[in-house]
Amino acid sequence: GEEQLRDGGLHRRRVVVLFSLPFHGHLNPTLKLAALLRARGLAVTVLHTDFNAPDPARHPGLAFVPIHETPLQDTAVSPDSDILAKLLALNAAIAAPFRQALASLQDAVACAVVDGQCYAAMDAAGELGVPVLALRTDSAAALRNMLAIPRLRDAGYLPFKGKQTKKEQLDEPAPGLEPLRVRDLIRVDGCDTDELCGFVTSVADAVRASVSGIVFNTFEAIEAPELAKIQRELSLPAFAVGPLHLLSQTPPPAEQSLHAPDRGCLAWLDARTPRSVLYVSLGSLACVNRAVFEEMAWGLAGSGVPFLWVVRPGMVTGGAAGEEAPPPLPDGLEEKMRGRGKIVTWAPQREVLAHDAIGAFWTHCGWNSILESICEGVPMLVQPCFADQMVNARYVTHEWGVGMEVGEVIERERVAKAVTKLMVGEDGAWMRERARRLQVQASAATSLALDSLVQYILSL
Ligand code: UDX
Repeated sequence: GEEQLRDGGLHRRRVVVLFSLPFHGHLNPTLKLAALLRARGLAVTVLHTDFNAPDPARHPGLAFVPIHETPLQDTAVSPDSDILAKLLALNAAIAAPFRQALASLQDAVACAVVDGQCYAAMDAAGELGVPVLALRTDSAAALRNMLAIPRLRDAGYLPFKGKQTKKEQLDEPAPGLEPLRVRDLIRVDGCDTDELCGFVTSVADAVRASVSGIVFNTFEAIEAPELAKIQRELSLPAFAVGPLHLLSQTPPPAEQSLHAPDRGCLAWLDARTPRSVLYVSLGSLACVNRAVFEEMAWGLAGSGVPFLWVVRPGMVTGGAAGEEAPPPLPDGLEEKMRGRGKIVTWAPQREVLAHDAIGAFWTHCGWNSILESICEGVPMLVQPCFADQMVNARYVTHEWGVGMEVGEVIERERVAKAVTKLMVGEDGAWMRERARRLQVQASAATSLALDSLVQYILSL
């Protein structure tokens, strides 16, 4: 049972506390891990921000406690601010409230599993004497790259000077981070390199000072060497407990979603032939400018391939601030699509990827999207936008051979060519075959790592 008899009859439960930054791609895996720990008999309390608060009704068995963060600055939420600005603003807004909420929990805390991008929470828990595990919602390779950022800056690789750098230099291996090339290194366009290094140093310092282990939503079959390296580099145990959505067996409709999915697109897919449709989505945060958006649109329409495209309100930069309506399509596009294209503002992505009609996924390479695609055996067209997406794209195309690039420049003719190559060409067939093999390996991923995580938590 959860109740432990201590201190001469006083009942005090020992709970595991989880905390995630309020991003869609972080909350989802965190809540899945929470459910898995609960299913193994641990008492679990989820601390959360008011912004993007999870819905407790969807998560029976978990306790939810709001931390009431300090009011968020615009940079934390605006689609126009970069990911670094968001991370810094969120860390600042949660630091004191998180500490207070954790300190005032009535239960004894066995351990806090906190977002590995949230140095403020790692520090606060550490200062309170609570054992801390960092939950990374990205890959082990991405964390290795992130921790190397100050070294890469000192060696002159950052700030990234894409267009001013010779192609041969961009194609050189990134020192210590192979198979990454210089062009695949984590970057956030427009952000200040010193600020980026400051953020990374805060995370690294928090890990060194407070963390007893790292939990990854990844699995050995795709990242064994990276996991071994990160354990060595940090001298910490790493638990590869993914793919969390597969192991937690959460039925997709029961999933936490920050936007209402348009389920009508599933009926639209039902009317399509197997593997005929390209699914296109840039995740929950990435934005493109109007010119890129139009090239994507014309390229898709011109390819002749049926497609389902997620066009989020605010996804195209330069629109009116706080715009709720999705960006308008280019004039004349509907005519060119001839009913071959379906556009939604948010899709039930896992169900879409599992649908027979889907032949490939044009993705921004967010880590959740990649895991979901792999788990359904769907090959990918990669268009990384920022941060770990660059790293993920390299692994998809080069290490695992389950995808190809749309092209460095998004231009309609090239887009149409890449789409047809993947959907109907021989290369595409080969990548689909590789993706199927990875799917089998993913479904063979066991919960052994989770069992050892539970043992470790109980030993802390
Ligand atoms: C962010 C960062 O962008 C990414 O680099 C990092 O790896 C994780 O955090 P995000 O942009 O949200 O992630 O992308 P991703 O990790 O792919 O997560 C998106 C999630 O939203 C997926 O679980 C996907 O299934 C879901 N989704 C997306 C939908 O359910 N419907 C949609 O229409 C689009």
